Amino acid sequence: MTSPAPETPAASTEPSASRRTVLRCAALAGAAGLGATACSGAGGSKGPAVPTAPVDLGAPADVPVGGARLYREQRLVVSQPAQGQYKAFSAVCTHAGCVVDKVENGKVSCPCHGSKFDAATGKVLQGPAGAPLPEVRVKLADGKLIAGPDA
Ligand code: FES
Repeated sequence: MTSPAPETPAASTEPSASRRTVLRCAALAGAAGLGATACSGAGGSKGPAVPTAPVDLGAPADVPVGGARLYREQRLVVSQPAQGQYKAFSAVCTHAGCVVDKVENGKVSCPCHGSKFDAATGKVLQGPAGAPLPEVRVKLADGKLIAGPDA
């Protein structure tokens, strides 16, 4: 008689706390009737994943042309694909809600499980995240970058 097939440990390497967070987030999203409710994750994110009011990011000089800058405190990533054209994305990882911590060579990196996103488009370059970073409206007004719903 043969013994049963061995279990596959690789499928359960994620900490159970992350699963609980995801489940709790899903429950909250359902209860609130919102599809994009932000949840606290291991990275310490809090509040909504995207701004609900205008956010003043100051002068745009720190956003390189062809590059991007992380505004970690405001939880936003702003890129400038071409001179004077700005794009902003939530810096809250779509995997489990950590705030990304690095923008390098056009890639936004999440410290929690290694997801990477394209800083110019928000698209996932490397999982486990399956959804792009949500785009946030951004404009230049009075020499300042303003991000948020009214931008
Ligand atoms: S929260 Fe898991 S990769 Fe970002």
